[in-house]
Amino acid sequence: MRPSSTAHLYELAWILPSIAIPIGMLVALMVTAFGAGIHVPGDEGRVDPTELATTPPFDQPGIIEVRPGQYEVQMVAEAWSFTPSEIRVPAGSSVTFVATSEDVVHGLFIPRANVNVMLLPGQVTRVTAHFNKPGEYLLVCHEYCGISHHTMAGKVIVEPRS
Ligand code: CUA
Repeated sequence: MRPSSTAHLYELAWILPSIAIPIGMLVALMVTAFGAGIHVPGDEGRVDPTELATTPPFDQPGIIEVRPGQYEVQMVAEAWSFTPSEIRVPAGSSVTFVATSEDVVHGLFIPRANVNVMLLPGQVTRVTAHFNKPGEYLLVCHEYCGISHHTMAGKVIVEPRS
């Protein structure tokens, strides 16, 4: 092989990845934005964190059965507790958490139910989890939120179906 053609191959080996990598990133961006619906917070779903006591649904935090086997938990996080902090559902339920924070950034982490979201003051976070196995599912704040951050926890109690 002549030296010039070898140099040509080296150049190709550099140029092709430098084209493929940005295209790969663009495709990944499109898939997450439009396919998986992941996007930055918008004005939609925003509430005034200082007015939560009079803003539905956060004026009445709690759990409601939307339809059989489907629950919605309206949850308020504040330093250093969740309201409600104890949630009871029958096994096989799907639970949508509609949550926000009234003061600082908190987290909502339910390790056994694949829930891992941030709760930002005034931003409404929605996440749905399925609870198939009876038992207690620990629910913790996993964003440092002050001196008693480590005490900020709750639980989902999944009761066996009778
Ligand atoms: Cu709330 Cu850490």
